[in-house]
Amino acid sequence: MRLDKYISHATGLPREYVKRVIRHKKVTVNGAMTKSASAQVAETDAVCLDSELLTLPGPRYLMLHKPAGYICATEDGEHPIVLDLLRDTDPEGLSIAGRLDIDTTGLVLLSDDGQWLHRVTSPRHLYAKVYRAVLQEPVHEDTVAAFAVGMLLRGEDKPTAPALCVPLPDNGAEITLNEGRYHQVKRMFAACGNHVVALHRVRIGAVLLDESLAEGASRPLTHEEMESFLS
Ligand code: URA
Repeated sequence: MRLDKYISHATGLPREYVKRVIRHKKVTVNGAMTKSASAQVAETDAVCLDSELLTLPGPRYLMLHKPAGYICATEDGEHPIVLDLLRDTDPEGLSIAGRLDIDTTGLVLLSDDGQWLHRVTSPRHLYAKVYRAVLQEPVHEDTVAAFAVGMLLRGEDKPTAPALCVPLPDNGAEITLNEGRYHQVKRMFAACGNHVVALHRVRIGAVLLDESLAEGASRPLTHEEMESFLS
């Protein structure tokens, strides 16, 4: 990693300020003064600022209550991205575990721990994802059966894995999926002749969307929440 990025990450200081500090000979790497912001340093190198040894913060694990209108991507030229919503967190290095459509709301998990992200999203680990949907028409028993058996979606050659669809009042439904295909909930209801009007994710694995989080707000995962994906 570049020296200026390392120091910015370790201290929270803006990169431009860090570059000035480096130019002013205040930084040493393994005891040697350096004026090069672009010098490469490893996590094992001893980086000191004003003679004080810096340490990189540990990995971060967050949940975010995604509002509609935001894209689950780390950059997009057209729409705001979910990383724009983070208030007290430097978005640098964070990635999203399991994307939601721009109009879908609810639980999004973020981290800079690549292995953990891989576990959360890997089909090998089968962490259930639970959604609440509002449909155009009431949910039929045939739809519940089709979700349970699995269905062939247009353009695909493998049927969906068995999924749970529980009808709720006012054209609602709670859907539990054990896989994550492109627009899966919307396409499954469309294949059953219905249309998703609103979609909200409430749970991934054992982690529930914190009801105290307003739309757009985020918080660090508790240790138990983070560890629930490691067992
Ligand atoms: N299924 C969808 O259709 N959209 C989402 O955002 C998530 C699951």
